[in-house]
Amino acid sequence: MSSEARKILVTSALPYANGPIHIGHLVEYIQTDIWARFQKLQGNRCVYVCADDAHGTPIMLRAQAEGITPEELIARVKTEHERDFAGFHIGFDNYHSTHSEENRHFAEYIYRKLKEGGHIAVRTIEQAYDPEAKMFLPDRFIKGECPKCGAKDQYGDNCEVCGATYDPTELKQPYSVVSGAQPVLKESEQYFFKVGDFADLLKQWTRAGHIQTEIANKMDEWLEEGLRDWDISRNAPYFGFEIPGAPGKYFYVWMDAPIGYLASFRNWCARSGEDFDAWWKPDSDAELYHFIGKDIARFHTLFFPAMLHGAGFRMPTAVYCHGFLTVDGQKMSKSRGTFISARTYLQHLNPEYLRYYYAAKLGPGIDDIDLNLEDFQARVNADLVGKVVNIASRTAGFIVKKFGGRLSDRLGDDSLHREGIATAERVAEAYERREYGRAMREIMTLADRINQYIDEQEPWVRIKDENQHPSVQDSCTVGLNGFRQLIILLKPVLPALAEQAEAFLQLSDQRWDDLREPLVNHEIQRFRPLMTRIEKEKIDAMIEASKEANAQEPAKASAPADGSASGIEPIAEQIDFEDFIKVDLRVARIVRAEAVEKADKLLRLTLDIGSEQRQVFAGIKSAYRPEDLEGRITVMVANLAPRKMRFGVSEGMVLAAGPGGKDIYLLSPDEGATPGMRIK
Ligand code: 2FM
Ligand code: ZN
Repeated sequence: MSSEARKILVTSALPYANGPIHIGHLVEYIQTDIWARFQKLQGNRCVYVCADDAHGTPIMLRAQAEGITPEELIARVKTEHERDFAGFHIGFDNYHSTHSEENRHFAEYIYRKLKEGGHIAVRTIEQAYDPEAKMFLPDRFIKGECPKCGAKDQYGDNCEVCGATYDPTELKQPYSVVSGAQPVLKESEQYFFKVGDFADLLKQWTRAGHIQTEIANKMDEWLEEGLRDWDISRNAPYFGFEIPGAPGKYFYVWMDAPIGYLASFRNWCARSGEDFDAWWKPDSDAELYHFIGKDIARFHTLFFPAMLHGAGFRMPTAVYCHGFLTVDGQKMSKSRGTFISARTYLQHLNPEYLRYYYAAKLGPGIDDIDLNLEDFQARVNADLVGKVVNIASRTAGFIVKKFGGRLSDRLGDDSLHREGIATAERVAEAYERREYGRAMREIMTLADRINQYIDEQEPWVRIKDENQHPSVQDSCTVGLNGFRQLIILLKPVLPALAEQAEAFLQLSDQRWDDLREPLVNHEIQRFRPLMTRIEKEKIDAMIEASKEANAQEPAKASAPADGSASGIEPIAEQIDFEDFIKVDLRVARIVRAEAVEKADKLLRLTLDIGSEQRQVFAGIKSAYRPEDLEGRITVMVANLAPRKMRFGVSEGMVLAAGPGGKDIYLLSPDEGATPGMRIK
């Protein structure tokens, strides 16, 4: 089957080093990981690398807000990311950072090559500058009215209402998200990559099968519009690499982010002794695949291939885009508890449930995929527990109890086995083409066939008759052979289940082609349940925990604004007075404060607001002892819709400032304010 082993380098997009991994991210990492594991299982030489995307203004400001250095922030987040990825069995061969020496080397090298080739232009341009925060503002830190449709509070680079893309200078009524000040235009010198120099090359590349049709169509539009020079520099203060020969200018985060793929691979080469150039030279026989979300296609299908070519490296074999995740048909939502972090998921459910569900839903296109929680539970239970694992639990007991754990010495009826081999060919083709949904359907059809066979054989009936014992051993051997084939077929998706199943079958690390050979005259171990059903309560608890985790965020997000760039969170979206006045803020007396069992951060407060008492859960336990709060006067949002949490209903919210932990400061009105007074 596997002829010549291919050399395959695979990447997933580099997650930003300023936030946790969530189930939306995981669509991509699971998709890529399945593909990489499949290639390895086939005997190909496949290397899967990734890294944290550590540069840029948001990371710089986030570190400032937390009162730590960017280096400290990115080191902490990298540890968290690696822990979460490992929790989901994402098997990177290397996980690095764009804030690394390898990345500095390649960013500088590529820049120098492009410059030598005449592909860098230097021009003085006017850019938005925040006179209060004393910094140039990235597009995403300016908001205002869309120049095309007039929608309010749109980001400086594109409009979420009409989809227009534009320059931040074109925004109407602009304001800085950092300080709220009106940006002024300020001149500075910037460095541009003349991507238009590569227009012909890109036109050809676009139509040569390297990208999906939908994205190729988009590329055609961009190419037809004409490729504008791309600004690859940013002014200090900026967290990134300073551009050689340009003091005070830094490489834009999107310039060195994809270069992080090379850096991570180089880091892996240093560990493995592999020759970097053999994989990255223009005529390399290695294949290079980037898995990304459709929102970042432009960077990977225009700028990055052009940069690689311009600097004398090979171009990608393919860039594979996927769609976004919705949960129960809607965007992930913090208040609905569907914005689920990897960590929260892992505290409640087996990661392989999600790996399987995503696999069952994924195709080769860029359509969004929906995690329907009811369907998730039903499908995993029916397919994995009810079909696959069930085969072993229905057959292994007889083999162990009656035949000393030994399988028959040959497959009397090998028709199912041959069916398994034929299925494997179709499944391999489906994996290769990223048609995982099809692969899962093929595998489950095979599982149905095996279960049907066991139903027909009725070993539980025939075991009662001594004379029929050999046939029981034979049919259970056929059943367990089918189970083993299923496990190999599912191994890219369910690596942990496969490992347990291999231990049960007393098999060493199985490869794809092993499924061709029958497993006979072989001893197996006693069967222990390999996977349990998903219980609805677990899903509910996960949703509640996500609500709680997000409910604790407001205290974190509202650091005191001191008007300087340091230590402050960006100002939230502007709202109208009419919106503000809808919020009913009341003076409240804390009548009772109690710790909530099994909730690390929550206190249950009973608040007196004159006309009634309210129960509110507040994420302030790390800063206050309950007994110190009783009797205290504070401020609450009285007309917030009640939220059902695991421990009860929260009927409002108290107001507090500070980054979190011990630094949380509950608001108190001046003396004289009495419970129930409205704050206006
Ligand atoms: O969109 C993002 O989350 C980016 N951090 C992805 C970067 S992918 C690659 F270019 F580094
Ligand atoms: Zn618009």
